[in-house]
Amino acid sequence: MIQDPAQSTPYGTLPPASPLANRKPVSLPRLLEMRARGEKITMLTAYDATFAAVADAAGVECILIGDSLGMVCQGLPSTVGVSLETMRYHTESVSRGIRRAQGTAWLIADMPFGTYQESKEQALRNAVVLSQAGAHMVKVEGGGWTAETVRFLVERGIPVCAHLGLTPQTVHALGGYRVQGKSDASADTLRRHAQELQDAGASMLVLEMVPHALAASVTQSLPYCATIGIGAGKDTAGQVLVLHDMLGVNLGKMPKFVRNFMADGGSIRGAMEAYVAAVKNGSFPDNALHAW
Ligand code: KIV
Repeated sequence: MIQDPAQSTPYGTLPPASPLANRKPVSLPRLLEMRARGEKITMLTAYDATFAAVADAAGVECILIGDSLGMVCQGLPSTVGVSLETMRYHTESVSRGIRRAQGTAWLIADMPFGTYQESKEQALRNAVVLSQAGAHMVKVEGGGWTAETVRFLVERGIPVCAHLGLTPQTVHALGGYRVQGKSDASADTLRRHAQELQDAGASMLVLEMVPHALAASVTQSLPYCATIGIGAGKDTAGQVLVLHDMLGVNLGKMPKFVRNFMADGGSIRGAMEAYVAAVKNGSFPDNALHAW
């Protein structure tokens, strides 16, 4: 039962009810409403039950079970080696944690490399595995050819988040973790792919490491799709960061666009709350750090 405000009991004083108490589960219509109203959407990655529950309690609306877990949990050199079984395991763990904590977050699971490229039927089979593990939405990387797959999944009741710009699963083809969409031609291609993905039914689109002006113009042109930026400036509908990066526990080189929120927050829950506040009030990210 929610106690409100702080109350004395035979067992001591209960804290006042969290302002987050009695929250409704985050839904796709609600996220698209936020996008339409201009309220920033917050997303963090999480890979286990406890961190997911803490992020949820800190007010993070969307939790991404990202295949970045290959690097941060498994010690792999890239996301290329992450398997469907690993994604299923972590998705189930996050989903259980959210349920146990009576959380409300919208859960998005990455479809790993090699699990959707072969055919739309293969994509559906594997998206079902992640949905049954607790994902509300699946994420696929790439433009052009993915639109047909996105349409196939959406028509069959599986919401899809697309991912353009730096797509880590194709790091070898891209020649490294580089900014994308810098030339006029590549920016035009990215804009066209974004439009095709929205038309196919993608209701979210991660834009990773693209110039902020390009991310802003894509966001403007997609009224039915919530753009989520990472290294793409502040003018997207929302933001995402890799949990370990924003807590300052990255094993490699910290990307330039990341802020260490532990410094602001003082604790893991505090860091997540500081992140939510900074995204909502527009103080993170700083476009000056995205002048690619
Ligand atoms: O895997 C992941 O964590 C991601 C984010 C970087 C967007 O795709």
